[in-house]
Parts: sequence; structure tokens; C-alpha cells
Amino acid sequence: MRVAEAIAEAERRLAAAGIDAPRVDAELLVAHLLGASRTALYAEPEQEVDGLEPLLRRREEREPLAYVLGEWGFRRLVLKTDARALVPRPETEILVERALAILHGLERPRVLDVGVGSGAIALAIADEHPGARITGVDVSADALALARENVRRLGLDVELRQAGIAAAAEGWDLVVSNPPYVETLEGLQPELRREPSEALLGDGFHRDLAAAARTTWLALEVGNGQAPAVARDLAAAGYSEIRITLDLGGRERVVEGKQE
Ligand SMILES: C[S@@+](CC[C@H](N)C(=O)[O-])C[C@H]1O[C@@H](n2cnc3c(N)ncnc32)[C@H](O)[C@@H]1O
Repeated sequence: MRVAEAIAEAERRLAAAGIDAPRVDAELLVAHLLGASRTALYAEPEQEVDGLEPLLRRREEREPLAYVLGEWGFRRLVLKTDARALVPRPETEILVERALAILHGLERPRVLDVGVGSGAIALAIADEHPGARITGVDVSADALALARENVRRLGLDVELRQAGIAAAAEGWDLVVSNPPYVETLEGLQPELRREPSEALLGDGFHRDLAAAARTTWLALEVGNGQAPAVARDLAAAGYSEIRITLDLGGRERVVEGKQE
């Protein structure tokens, strides 16, 4: 099948499977098979596309596109992505943005990422603040294995270990976390059920982390509507300079605070 036909066929089947932006997914699948960018696809419309069917079938079955492609962009990095860890989300890039702003001017800050997952946040900070000494912890051995592969692939310096919230009490300049904060998967996109449930479902993690952490700064990603309560939790735990930052969709996405 040639490029234009392959895209049209994939778009038709993905639309029938209920996927939101079937054209974009179709183009990304074909581009992946050709080792090209999406924009370069139309430069050589006569090119043959091989191997589309198995990828298309996985996506039709609502496997996240990032797992089907096996890699996903996050800030300046391309991370390996599979079912061992959450797909890095664009809104989490805002958390990294805030972490970098907090770290600005600190030469060798000690940073902890709690719930490191694929390594997205820790690796992006390592990439964009090269002096930082970064540790990532997770309770999931699977997620840590994937994060280790990403550390190796990217050649960045991040220490990884299996631990939970207690690691935040060790004393840090910044503790950053995108914790599990989804209350229920009911009514949400079917793709979410393919991601590890311990990466998504959670209640009270922000409060527990704020209470346990010994850190100058704490920066947390929050779910829709959670920011005011998390800001109150930080205030109750003794944090000051509490600030809420919006994501690109205008939703309150990051809550940060400082301990004296
Ligand atoms: C929402 S995912 C975030 C993954 C990654 N940081 C990102 O932003 O793409 C949350 C992560 O927290 C981990 N996790 C869940 N409970 C935890 C706990 N008590 N302590 C440490 N990590 C935990 C999960 O295994 C998962 O990898």
C-alpha cells in the first residue's frame, strides 16, 4: 500500500474504532513505519508502507498510541514507552517547567522525583538543568526497569531506586511528583485501562507527600479541580509561597510550596 492509501485506510478504521483524532494517529503510525516525520510524509506519496496491519490492529483495540509506537516525545527527549509505566503527558511538561524555574540559579541542587514512572520528569530535569543531582523512586519494579532503560538510552545522570513516599523525608532542595490522582476510570477513555492502575488511581497522595517531605521546595501535579484542596494541604503542612500554575488548557495543574 502506498502512503496516501495507507493513511486513508488507517484513518477510516481508527475513526470506526472511536478514536478522537484518527487522522493524526494514522499519520503517526505511517510515519513511524517509514522512519519519517509526520510533515515529511506527503513529500513521497508513492512510497510503499509495510507492516501497518499489526500496529493498526493494536491501536484499533485502544492500546495507547505511545505504546504502539514504543516511544514518545516529552519536552526535548524521546522516551521509550510501554505498558510498564504511564505514558508521559503534555501537562506534566508544565510541572517540569515549574521545577526548572525553582531550580534556576542553584548549581548542584538535590532533587527527588517520587513516582518516577518512565523517568520522564527526572530525565527532563537532568537534561535541562545539568548540574542537578536527581533521584527517582517508584514502588513499581516494572516502571523502574523502563526508567533504567531510558536513563541508559539517553545517557543522562539519574539515580533510580525502589522506594515510596518515605524517600521524601531524606532532605532535598526540591521534591517533585506527578502522583496517582485519578479517583475512578469510570467514563474515561478506554486507553487508560491499558496503563498501570497503580500509576493512575490514588487518593490522598499529595497530602501524605506534603506531610512526609523534608525539602525546601515541593512541586506537585494535580488532577482537574484538585488544586485548591492540595494548596490547603500544603498550607496545613506548614508550606508558604504556595502557587498554582495552569496548564496549556487553562486548568490548574501544578501546586508548589516552600518549607522554611
Ligand atoms: C502518574 S504516574 C507518573 C509517572 C511519571 N512520573 C510521569 O509523570 O509520567 C505515578 C507513578 O507513581 C508510582 N507510585 C504509585 N504509588 C507510589 C508510592 N506510594 N510511592 C512511590 N511511587 C508510587 C506509580 O508506580 C507510577 O509510576
